[in-house]
Amino acid sequence: MKNVHIGSITEDHFNQLISTYDPSQIIAIVDENTAPYLDEIHLITDINIDAIQLPSGENHKNIQTVAAIWKDLTDNQFRRDGLIINLGGGVITDMGGFAAATYKRGVDFINIPTTLLAMVDAAIGGKTGVDFFDFKNQIGVIKEAEGVFCDVAFLGSLPKEELMSGFAEVLKHGLVADSKYFDYCTYTPFEELKWEKIVEGSVRIKGEIVAEDPFEKGRRKLLNFGHTIGHALESLRLEQGNPILHGFGVVAGMLVETKISFDKGLINDHYFNKIVNALDQLYDRITITSNDIPFMIERMKNDKKNHNDSINFTLLEGIGKGIFNQSASEEEIQRAIQWYSK
Ligand SMILES: NC(=O)c1ccc[n+]([C@@H]2O[C@H](COP(=O)([O-])OP(=O)(O)OC[C@H]3O[C@@H](n4cnc5c(N)ncnc54)[C@H](O)[C@@H]3O)[C@@H](O)[C@H]2O)c1
Ligand SMILES: [Zn+2]
Repeated sequence: MKNVHIGSITEDHFNQLISTYDPSQIIAIVDENTAPYLDEIHLITDINIDAIQLPSGENHKNIQTVAAIWKDLTDNQFRRDGLIINLGGGVITDMGGFAAATYKRGVDFINIPTTLLAMVDAAIGGKTGVDFFDFKNQIGVIKEAEGVFCDVAFLGSLPKEELMSGFAEVLKHGLVADSKYFDYCTYTPFEELKWEKIVEGSVRIKGEIVAEDPFEKGRRKLLNFGHTIGHALESLRLEQGNPILHGFGVVAGMLVETKISFDKGLINDHYFNKIVNALDQLYDRITITSNDIPFMIERMKNDKKNHNDSINFTLLEGIGKGIFNQSASEEEIQRAIQWYSK
């Protein structure tokens, strides 16, 4: 991965990174919650940075908003040798990255993630894109940011539930690739966690996986753990007009998929109990009724991660040991969701 800097953003770092690109113009993409952070960046640098402010929220992560960015860039006569700075959560880094990757066939961009989820996941690894109707991340391209600044000081203003949502991806990194990291994240009392250490850990784990398999032909699928069920639950709750944060869907997904792993004999009851207890201690369960299960299974069948007719999962063979390209039958899935709902 290119240029990931973890720590406070200093004048030197910032000016140094910018000077390597010598851009003709810089535009930052922000939302109303992250616009104040651009004022802070203006304080540490004399470099001129214009802003495009978007409305916050997943429901604005669509092609209409991207068209508005393209329009603003065009109105500003933004050139191919300009630089875009995505300053915000995963919605901004996904959408700003996509707008940058497509405007004039691609201009350089850097990410300054301001949520935990974006620091440990969305802002790194090169996936960009938007939702299309109710299909999440249906349209997009893979293009890596030229640089990423992860400054955990931004997390100070983040609502606790957003922090917990991002922490789900952190736990996922531990579960699929690093048992020591999982232990640190779950044995340390939540209030005592060192966020910089966590961002470092997740950037390292995700970075290694993505470097090996940037286009998700194999090993990158490990990062889908919890997401087959999680996305189906997110879709269900969206459909019901009662959406949940992404990470909360992922936690439910990790529990159900841990149960599937256990039922298939991939993990023993010691690991099973350890994972379930750790997740249950941190997160409440989400109500899923038996009437909801057919909708979820239908959604999973449409999921882009499937080959043939079976539903494809990343499961666990241990803590820190994910295994991809595993299929589960509808009965196995149903049984695991029913276990989760009890
Ligand atoms: N590209 C990838 O690999 C990848 C990976 C995971 C998730 N994602 C995407 O990321 C998105 C979710 O990201 P998110 O959880 O960061 O959502 P988000 O960008 O919507 O941010 C959550 C909320 O927090 C606000 N906010 C941002 N920074 C803040 C701060 N420092 N203080 C206070 N409020 C702040 C935002 O304005 C927003 O209201 C989803 O669209 C998901 O698909 C992408
Ligand atoms: Zn995720």
